[in-house]
Amino acid sequence: MENIASASILSADFCNLGRDIQKAEEAGCRYIHFDVMDGVFVPNISYGIPILKAVSKVVKGTLDVHLMIIDPIKYVKDFAANGADIITFHAESESDIAGTIKVIHSCGKKAGLAIKPGTPVSAVEPYLDLLDMVLVMTVEPGFGGQGFIYSTIDKIAEVKSMIESRGLDIPIQVDGGINGETAELVKNAGAEILVAGSYLFGADDMRAAADKLICRN
Ligand code: DX5
Ligand code: ZN
Repeated sequence: MENIASASILSADFCNLGRDIQKAEEAGCRYIHFDVMDGVFVPNISYGIPILKAVSKVVKGTLDVHLMIIDPIKYVKDFAANGADIITFHAESESDIAGTIKVIHSCGKKAGLAIKPGTPVSAVEPYLDLLDMVLVMTVEPGFGGQGFIYSTIDKIAEVKSMIESRGLDIPIQVDGGINGETAELVKNAGAEILVAGSYLFGADDMRAAADKLICRN
């Protein structure tokens, strides 16, 4: 089985977004990662629904939406109606977690739950039976191009064993500071879906870079 590369378009050229998405998909990225930041949950603002709608028209693979917003339950229906295939929100947000997952599923979409580097894995444990994906953040959410936080490796392994001990089959996604080297570490710890922004879009050869995320060791 191969891993999945999810290209974070936060590091793309926004004036040539369609071209960059096509380039990432041609390089082998099966997911396109769409980071939504509200300036409240994280100290940065990115983009929202109108851009998602435009992007969804060119994405051929899976549109992987990562909501870094304070009250996701208010907006998940809009993201679902405008092209999201997977909607991931944060356990640290103010929304009711089980309720938000329910709304995502009622729209026919997959639900992911994310935890920041400082949040214990116990925050996702009660919801594992309901989830389609767990996102373990490997940097503090808010910005692309940050350095990988190595203490998150143990958390990935912890989530992996929690999932396996329950006989579940939920993929673990990682996001932040992923490159050719850190990809090996997160894959060994049990991550299957690797998000990368600056590494992919800054690469001279995007296909070679994506291969490092995708290939199993
Ligand atoms: C950070 C975002 C990431 C970001 C990753 O808050 O969630 O998806 O784009 O960027 P890199 O891969 O450059 O660390
Ligand atoms: Zn992200």
